[in-house]
Amino acid sequence: MAVASFDRAPDARLREVMQALVRHLHAFATEVGLTEDEWRAAIAALTATGDITDEHRQEFILWSDALGLSMLVDTLANLRPPGATESTVLGPFYVPGAPLREYGASIAAEPAGTPARVHGCVRDLDGTPIAGAELDVWQNGDDRLYAVQKPEGPEDHLRGRFRTREDGSYAFLAVRPVPYPIPDDGPVGRMLAATGRHPWRPAHIHMIVRADGYRTVTTHVFDAASGYLDSDAVFAVKPSLLREIVPRAADDPERPPGVEGEWASVRCDFVLVAGDEPGEPADAGRTA
Ligand code: BEZ
Ligand code: FE
Repeated sequence: MAVASFDRAPDARLREVMQALVRHLHAFATEVGLTEDEWRAAIAALTATGDITDEHRQEFILWSDALGLSMLVDTLANLRPPGATESTVLGPFYVPGAPLREYGASIAAEPAGTPARVHGCVRDLDGTPIAGAELDVWQNGDDRLYAVQKPEGPEDHLRGRFRTREDGSYAFLAVRPVPYPIPDDGPVGRMLAATGRHPWRPAHIHMIVRADGYRTVTTHVFDAASGYLDSDAVFAVKPSLLREIVPRAADDPERPPGVEGEWASVRCDFVLVAGDEPGEPADAGRTA
C-alpha cells in the first residue's frame, strides 16, 4: 500500500510527512468520492499553476494563501507570548533592499492618496524601548497597486526602511492604504470565482520589524475601519493588528512638514520577543 511504501525512508521526518500526506490525500478522495473528471480538473489546475509561475509570480504560494495554509503555517511557526506583536502573511509584494530613510520621511515618490503619519515605539516584552530596531515597510497606493506591480513607475515608491531612535520611537509618512484584490487572473482567481468567493484584502500596511537579539516579526497594520476585515481573501486579519487611522484637518497643528490638505495619523507600537535566531521571512515569492 502507498503509505507502507515509505516505511524504509531513511529520513524519519520525511517518512512521517509523506505517510501523513498519502493518508490524508486518500481520506480526502474517499470522503468526497473524487471522480475521474474532478481528478483531471485538479491536475489541469496544478498544471496551469506551474505555467503561470515564474520569477515574478508565485501562484503556488497564492493557493496556499487563499486556502488558509499560509496562515496556519505562520501560526505554527510563530507562537509568541501574550503581549508580543503577532505575525501575519508576508504576501507576494515584498522586495528586500528598500532604501533606508530618515525619521519622519515620506515613502511616497509621487502622490498616492491621503498622507498618513505612522508612528509609535518598538519595545520588548518588559516595555523597555529598543533603539536601532529596523522597520521595513511597504504598502499600496490609492490605485490599489504596489510599486513592484508597476515596473514603469519609481522602484522605491511606497517602501522604505526606518530605524528607531534612542527612545524606541519611529515615524514615517505613508498614505492611507486601500483594499485591493489579490491577483485573480490565474487559477486561484478562477477557483475564487467558481466558489463564490471574492479576492479582496482589507486595507493594510506591511511591516517587518527586526532588532539585534530579537525575533523578527512579519506583520501588518490593518485599518480598523476598512471593508473586508471579516472576509480577507487570505485569512490574515488578527484583531490585535487593527489600528484606528485618525482623520486630521488641513490646519491641524501637528501637520507633518510637506503635507498640504487633509491627512491622517495612526499610532502603532510593536513588541518584540528576545531570541538569538532572528528568522527572516521564509516566503520569497512575489507577483509583479
Ligand atoms: C498582500 O498583502 O500583499 C498579499 C498577501 C497574500 C496574497 C496576496 C497579497
Ligand atoms: Fe498587501
